[in-house]
Amino acid sequence: MSVADFYGRWAALYDRVATAPGVERWRRAAAERVARPGDTVVEMGCGTGANLPYLQECVGPAGRVVGVDLAGPPLRWARDRAGRYGDDDVAVVRGDATDPPVGTADAVLGTFVCGLFDDPGDVVDRWCDLVGPGGRVALMDATATEAAVGRPLVPLFRAFVAAGAPGSGPGDVLRAPFGRPDEPLSRRVAASRAALTDRTEARRYETFGLGFVGLLSGRVR
Ligand SMILES: C[S@@+](CC[C@H](N)C(=O)[O-])C[C@H]1O[C@@H](n2cnc3c(N)ncnc32)[C@H](O)[C@@H]1O
Repeated sequence: MSVADFYGRWAALYDRVATAPGVERWRRAAAERVARPGDTVVEMGCGTGANLPYLQECVGPAGRVVGVDLAGPPLRWARDRAGRYGDDDVAVVRGDATDPPVGTADAVLGTFVCGLFDDPGDVVDRWCDLVGPGGRVALMDATATEAAVGRPLVPLFRAFVAAGAPGSGPGDVLRAPFGRPDEPLSRRVAASRAALTDRTEARRYETFGLGFVGLLSGRVR
């Protein structure tokens, strides 16, 4: 099953997870890292649009937020959310985040999306090129935690990763705690963070959710 089909099929369930209590704090933090009043901010792989209200709050009436996603059904949710604002304030477009369908931007946000790319380092490079020197990029992703307090929950995290992987079935989820299904995700997330680290200054890194979620941001040199 392709990534677009997978997120298309599970859009309603995904939206519940994406807007679960507590998650809004991570989303607000991610928005505040990249978006300034008057900015044009692009969210790559915006899914059901859970970040859009926080981004809009940060850019204010003089700014613009554009959400980009490959899959139709999550975009319909995102369009509903964007519908609370004017077309000039928040827009949602169907497109490929690996080849952004946007000419210029002040900032780019990608949350829980870099782990889905074949070559995340190259994609983050393109995002840095898009915003140019002085532009901001932030990446928020899940990875197996290094924090002692979260370590006992790593098997559960592996099952969660397996459940969220396009193409996996119930057997994969049950076997996941005893394997390493999070390894490809962690490798891709590490590659995206390495690319951002290479290209940026004034970086900040913060973790949420017992260390299972990391937010890295920086200003392009
Ligand atoms: C795990 S969801 C994250 C959604 C949202 N960023 C959030 O934090 O809730 C990943 C989203 O990325 C989208 N996606 C995956 N690959 C993409 C690509 N190459 N271009 C655009 N969207 C993509 C999927 O369709 C899906 O909606």
